[in-house]
Amino acid sequence: HLYLPKNLNVRVLVGVTGSVAALKLPVLVSELLQLSGVDVRVITTEHAKHFYNPSDVSVKIYTDKDEWELWTDRSDPVLHIELRRWADLLIIAPLDANTLGKIASGICDNLLTCVVRAWDTSRPLLFCPAMNTAMWLHPITAQQVSRLKEFGYVEIPCISKKLVCGDEGKGAMAEVSTIISAVRQYLPKSDESSQKT
Ligand SMILES: Cc1cc2nc3c(=O)[nH]c(=O)nc-3n(C[C@H](O)[C@H](O)[C@H](O)COP(=O)(O)O)c2cc1C
Repeated sequence: HLYLPKNLNVRVLVGVTGSVAALKLPVLVSELLQLSGVDVRVITTEHAKHFYNPSDVSVKIYTDKDEWELWTDRSDPVLHIELRRWADLLIIAPLDANTLGKIASGICDNLLTCVVRAWDTSRPLLFCPAMNTAMWLHPITAQQVSRLKEFGYVEIPCISKKLVCGDEGKGAMAEVSTIISAVRQYLPKSDESSQKT
């Protein structure tokens, strides 16, 4: 299968979940594509689809349907395994409360959580929590975020601002510029210096 071509670029897989911050997917993808030597693909949850228009995203967006349609025969590839092999880096932005809880407990009931469950933990996995302040303040959030950090995943912390629901406080996804800077740290040094010039 030439399904997932290999090349020398750093292959960044973006996972997007059903937080209102998924509105920022188009800008996040376009800013990632401006980094040199980066290939980008997206995995979306079903609920995340509600928040962006796929025609505003110029890279392949994989859905749960793709996972199940790809496999009909034992010689067919399994998409979540193909994607975990393809990716050098996974960034989940936004990571909502639901998927945070699932990842913390090992649940893998969709394409994104299967990739995470099968992830090679020697490769970077960055996550950007995003949720309502009340959800953020619930004691289970800190427990689950710590769990993910114990796995070696890197938190890009949420920030305080007036949220779309009208509440004010912590829980908003980090700014796209912060996420891009975090991803840059994992790119080859030559890329970082070329970005600075
Ligand atoms: C308009 C709207 C906005 C939402 N925003 C958030 C959010 O910012 N963070 C969050 O954790 N959940 C949010 N939710 C709830 C999630 O969409 C819900 O928990 C869903 O089951 C998540 O599924 P997923 O993790 O598979 O994408 C929102 C729901 C709606 C309807």
